[in-house]
Amino acid sequence: MNILVTGGAGYIGSHTCIELLDAGFNPIVFDNLSNSSTIALDRVEEITGKKITFIRGDVRDSEALDQVFSQHDIYAVIHFAGLKAVGESVEKPIMYYDNNVSGSITLFASMERNNITRIIFSSSATVYGDPASVPITENFPTSTTNPYGGSKLIIEDVLKNIYVAHQDWNIALLRYFNPVGAHESGLIGEDPSDIPNNLMPYISGVAVGKLDKLSIFGDDYPTADGTGVRDYIHVVDLAKGHVKALQAFENKAVDNLYTVNLGTGKGYSVLEMVEAFKKASGKDIAYQITSRRAGDIACCYADPSYAKELIDWEATKGIQAMCDDTWRWQSNNPLGYK
Ligand code: NAD
Ligand code: WQD
Repeated sequence: MNILVTGGAGYIGSHTCIELLDAGFNPIVFDNLSNSSTIALDRVEEITGKKITFIRGDVRDSEALDQVFSQHDIYAVIHFAGLKAVGESVEKPIMYYDNNVSGSITLFASMERNNITRIIFSSSATVYGDPASVPITENFPTSTTNPYGGSKLIIEDVLKNIYVAHQDWNIALLRYFNPVGAHESGLIGEDPSDIPNNLMPYISGVAVGKLDKLSIFGDDYPTADGTGVRDYIHVVDLAKGHVKALQAFENKAVDNLYTVNLGTGKGYSVLEMVEAFKKASGKDIAYQITSRRAGDIACCYADPSYAKELIDWEATKGIQAMCDDTWRWQSNNPLGYK
C-alpha cells in the first residue's frame, strides 16, 4: 500500500519511512527539502534495503499534489511537512501560517478532489499551552502562545470540520511530546540547519565540540531541581506510532476521527537530561544557568494511556537509549548530512 509522506525527508519523517517499510507499506516522500536532505532517504534505503520514491515538491502546490495523487494509488497520507521553530514563528508569522496552514489546506483540497480519505497529522503537545496540571490527557483545554502552535490548532480544527462534512474520512491527530534520539544504526538523526533551538541537539552539539556550552533556561521553576521538565520520546517509538495509527484506520472499534498523545508519561528535567547525556557520551557537558526563555512552561508530560487503549501503542525506549542513539548519530556525523 502506498503512503504519501509529506515532509518525509525530515527528522521524524525519515524515521517513519523505515517503520513503514518494515511494516510492508510503500512510502512515497513528497518534500520541498526546505529543512532536509535526500541523503536521509539514501540512508533509509541503506538501512532497510528497500527503495523509496522521492518527489521534490511543496504542499502549497496543488498541481504537483494532484499529479502525485493521479499517478500513484495512495492509500493514506502522513502529513509531516511544516516549519517547526517556535521562536522563528513569532518573528515570521505570515511565513508560518502560509507554509503550515495554507500548505495543509492545499493538501486537504487535493485529497478531496482525488478521493483520498485517510490522513495522519503531526500535531504537538504545544496545543495544550501551559497545562493546569500533569499528566496531560487529550481532553485538556487547548491554547497557544505563538504562531507555530496557532498553526497546529488551526489545522486540527480544519480537519475536525472536514470530518463533520465527510464522516467517511479517517483522520488521526497525533500530538507529539518532545521527540529526541535517532535510529540505532547511527545513520539518520536530527540535523538542525542552524544553531539548535531544542535541548537535545544542543546538548549533543556541546558534547561533540561544535557548541561551547549549553544555556539552561532557568533553575527557578517549581520542579524538583528547578529546571524545566518535559516528556522526551524516542523518535523510533514515535515513528512506530504512525504505523499503529494507520493500522487503526482498519479497526472498526476506533472512531474515524481521533486524537492521541504520543509521549512516554515520564518527565525529565534539563539537568537530568544533561546527566544522562554525559553518561551516554562519556563527555563533559559545559553549561551555565541563564534566565528563563520567553514562553517556556515549567512542566509538561503526557498521559499516554489513551494511545495504548485506542491504537495499541506505547513507548518502549527509555532515556538512556534516547541519549545513546543521539550520541551514536552525532559522533558518527558531526556535521549532520553535510
Ligand atoms: P523537520 O523540519 O525535520 O521535517 C519537516 C519536513 O517538512 C522537512 O523535510 C521540510 O523540508 C519539509 N517541509 C516543510 N515545509 C514544506 C512544504 N511547504 N512542502 C513540502 N515539504 C515541506 O521536522 P520534524 O521534527 O521531522 O517534524 C515533522 C512534523 O512534526 C512537523 O509538522 C512538526 O511541526 C511536527 N512536530 C515536531 C516536533 C519536534 O519537536 N520535532 C514536535 C511536535 C510536532
Ligand atoms: C526543552 C527544555 C527548555 C534549550 C519545543 C516546542 C514544542 C515541540 C517540541 C514542536 C525546556 C530547556 C532548551 C536550551 C534549555 N515542537 N532548554 N536550553 O520548548 O519543550 O518544546 O519543541 O511541536 O512545540 O515548543 O522543547 O527542547 O526547546 O526545551 O534549557 O538550549 O529544555 O527551557 O525546559 P520545548 P525544547
